[in-house]
Amino acid sequence: MNLILSIESSCDDSSIALTNIDNLEVVEHLKISQEIEHSKYGGVVPELASRLHAVALPKLLEKLKPYFKNIKAVAVTTHPGLSVSLHEGVAMAKSISAFLEVPIIGVNHLYGHIYSLFIGKNESLPLLTLLVSGGHTQVLRVKDFNNMELLATTMDDSVGEAYDKVAKMLNLGYPGGPIIEKLALKGERDRFNFPIPMQNSPLVAFSLSGLKNAVRLKIEELRESNSLDEQAICDIAASFEKAVVKHLLQKSKKIFKKDNSKYFAIVGGVSANSYIKSNFKKLCKEFGKVMLEVDLKYCSDNAVMIGRWAIERYKRRDFDNLDSIKVGATKECREIVSSTK
Ligand code: KG4
Ligand code: ZN
Repeated sequence: MNLILSIESSCDDSSIALTNIDNLEVVEHLKISQEIEHSKYGGVVPELASRLHAVALPKLLEKLKPYFKNIKAVAVTTHPGLSVSLHEGVAMAKSISAFLEVPIIGVNHLYGHIYSLFIGKNESLPLLTLLVSGGHTQVLRVKDFNNMELLATTMDDSVGEAYDKVAKMLNLGYPGGPIIEKLALKGERDRFNFPIPMQNSPLVAFSLSGLKNAVRLKIEELRESNSLDEQAICDIAASFEKAVVKHLLQKSKKIFKKDNSKYFAIVGGVSANSYIKSNFKKLCKEFGKVMLEVDLKYCSDNAVMIGRWAIERYKRRDFDNLDSIKVGATKECREIVSSTK
């Protein structure tokens, strides 16, 4: 059995996975999430995250000892993310690479999210993808492994960040996305008429900060008049979500009109959101695209997606240098603009 060991520690999830290089089968997927620890702060505290990774990663690795003899390469997220958190994973990957004398592959976390679509299976390309996570909101065209093109990005906050901040304003905890989604199901989407960002702008880009501010003002207004009750919170969540989706759809539609990729997919943590997904399903139907979906357990950060991307690199014998690999400094550590390698 030929295995790739992959490590993900870019934010608040410590994860290690083993994937069979030959048949893409996921052999092990271990993950310790730090959500509870960060929840009381309403967001991720980098120093705390890094300390927790330092405890969690060795604990997970210990469980994989019986497989060490089968490991042919080690892959690790090197960018983007919290540098103190990334460092924990990179340091561990370097030690494993040196100890087992296997090559090392530094992976761009965003490539991992895109390849989370292809865990356990071959690629379906060309693909248009909306990458929505805590740190990014982008539309990319993936022609093949060697050819990705950035078509749109956010000018300020990411979608995940906006969900997290709205949840924080309402003292609901972290991460905000799943909490807001759940409350929105009990809310009235038309109660608050939040502005759809950049509605009249021809720019194909995203912006969430204006909407976030409008939500903040509404919360303050309701608090002052003592009317921020349970139903009002659900209605805020629902109305906010409606504005987010309208914005994402409106800008994506402009891209869909000019794109002939067969496949479309939403990737990144926010892709777990059913309301966003169902609306994009309708858009895909309208434009005759096949919508692919990430398995729910691989939407949020995980090491399996890092391993899946790294297998493509392994097949091409495309490795990094053990002496020079470090956080933010490998060949994949540039933002994707138009990356024809
Ligand atoms: O990809 P991810 O796990 O980490 C980053 O790379 O940032 O994404 C985390 C983000 C958080 O902002 C979280 O609130 C959001 O994904 N998220 C959601 C949902 N589940 C997670 N946002 C909306 N709806 C959800 N169901
Ligand atoms: Zn992520």
